[in-house]
Amino acid sequence: MAAAAISHLRRGAQRHALLYLSRRHFSSPSSLAAAAPLAAAARRLLSTSVESGTSSKAGSYKPPPLDPFRAALAPASPPLESPPLEEPPATPPLPEVASAAAGPEQDPVVLQNEQLEGLKAGLEAVRSREESPEEKEAWWLLNRAVVNYCGSAVGTVAANDPSTANHMLNYDQIFIRDFVPSAIAFLLRGESDIVKNFLLHTLQLQSWEKTVDCYSPGQGLMPASFKVRSVPLDGNNEAFEEVLDPDFGESAIGRVAPVDSGLWWIILLRAYGKITGDYALQERVDVQTGIRLILNLCLTDGFDMFPTLLVTDGSCMIDRRMGIHGHPLEIQALFYSALRCAREMVSTDDGSKNLIRVINNRLSALSFHIREYYWVDMKKINEIYRYKTEEYSHDAINKFNIYPEQIPSWLADWIPDKGGYLIGNLQPAHMDFRFFSLGNLWAIVSSLATQKQAEGILNLIETKWDDIVANMPLKICYPALEYEEWRIITGCDPKNTPWSYHNGGSWPTLLWQFTLACIKMGRPDLARRAVEAVEKRLSDDKWPEYYDTRTGRFIGKQSRLYQTWTIAGFLSSKMLLDCPEMASILICDEDLELLEGCACGLSNSARIKCSRRAARSQVLV
Ligand code: GLC
Repeated sequence: MAAAAISHLRRGAQRHALLYLSRRHFSSPSSLAAAAPLAAAARRLLSTSVESGTSSKAGSYKPPPLDPFRAALAPASPPLESPPLEEPPATPPLPEVASAAAGPEQDPVVLQNEQLEGLKAGLEAVRSREESPEEKEAWWLLNRAVVNYCGSAVGTVAANDPSTANHMLNYDQIFIRDFVPSAIAFLLRGESDIVKNFLLHTLQLQSWEKTVDCYSPGQGLMPASFKVRSVPLDGNNEAFEEVLDPDFGESAIGRVAPVDSGLWWIILLRAYGKITGDYALQERVDVQTGIRLILNLCLTDGFDMFPTLLVTDGSCMIDRRMGIHGHPLEIQALFYSALRCAREMVSTDDGSKNLIRVINNRLSALSFHIREYYWVDMKKINEIYRYKTEEYSHDAINKFNIYPEQIPSWLADWIPDKGGYLIGNLQPAHMDFRFFSLGNLWAIVSSLATQKQAEGILNLIETKWDDIVANMPLKICYPALEYEEWRIITGCDPKNTPWSYHNGGSWPTLLWQFTLACIKMGRPDLARRAVEAVEKRLSDDKWPEYYDTRTGRFIGKQSRLYQTWTIAGFLSSKMLLDCPEMASILICDEDLELLEGCACGLSNSARIKCSRRAARSQVLV
């Protein structure tokens, strides 16, 4: 029944897209923009292969004879819609930063080739390294988790736990976020085909027809997960065809929207290009459209007062209610990273100038906002403790009207003298002071945090090792919600009891992101300590999804075994530690040019301060 419905939808949408596109005359940017979703649908339905249009290999992708999508997006065609933005007023450059940013001119192509040569040498080094018995086991398990679609590898299942075979829920699916560490492991080993296939097949799913109770979410949305299903061909039970069946949240527990999926997709696309040198993939028209659809979804105007992305609870790795709705750090850090990666990949043509400007403005506003308002250390908490409230003015110090009474009692004893971290969330009159690992680590990796803040975060992790790493790296968040807070905030979720699962559980998959952050900050010793401490235990425990208790001593109550991102995260960490230069495929360095010039037009002496100038001072201190 479901399969028949899928087939019907595909055929129906194909006809509709073709008819619409052939009738429509793309004469203006707005008409093209309006057609973008349908063009994307046509792209999905017309593309029968994921091979590159530029490849000359036999059996490679050939556009169908009539490909209205391609015709519509021929080089001379007008740009896809990007969020409108006024021309920025000319502001004088900031002299110190301008000179700091301007190094000796280097040809970007030469630079790219040099980097590629360095990465090739790194790949050789990865290949020739000695693997531990645990790594050998992990590789065997990772290969066992690979899923094929029409004869090619397209991803890895979330878990392959025989003991829960009758109760898989959606763990037999390929999750976008879970596949990222698998992809990194494969890329580091020089096996890039599975990653390319994954990127192209998920791109096709992006424009799938999706509805939740007759409501359709945005076109750029990427699924949380997808599954390969075998369905009878046109009702004939003798012949079958494989179809990809995505879940955009419409079947997910709690119907949560996977906001992070598209962000991870962009981050992975850049990593793939950097390590393989196959930049043709990101230049493909359909891939460029995919990038822009994701960006459009993130950059559209709404009612927001902040540059941070406003999302519902459970829209990322924490995909159940945990009180992270609003502006959770994890999403902001991935958003920042994805914008940085997308900016490198968006093809330069007349139409992209505006988009690049919008990305740059968002990047600088976002980094200022996070660096200024999410950062806490001893000094800042003391300031908050003495905040005046109800300030109605432009130059209020306590801009979000935070009542000092909300500083939790655990924090006063916990915050170390040295170091600090980015808080979990910020809303009017609300700061979520919990420490969330993924957001903090990814803020380091993407340079969303300043160099000093990044050092501070690692200092805090080192000082609070027994709380954040303990027996199993790393706590997803610290501390756990207990008693009344657990009741109200999680909605009495029995899976998220204190120190379990998303509520202070320990997730070994976070190891690879910890490793990246440590390598970037020149502290591989910290990551090595964490990896070495658990290598044998992970294998003995059968690679669990998560661990419970305050010190991570027990395998999680409902934890799956043979969880793929635990396995792949461990493998990626090991390879990255041995060949740290390979981390560059995921890292973004501080971009000082972002701090030059600004669209706001406010000068230093103005009553309202320009945040970009303030951001510059954050970096230069
Ligand atoms: C859980 C995790 C989620 C992950 C999924 C599959 O739902 O919270 O982050 O993607 O399992 O492993």
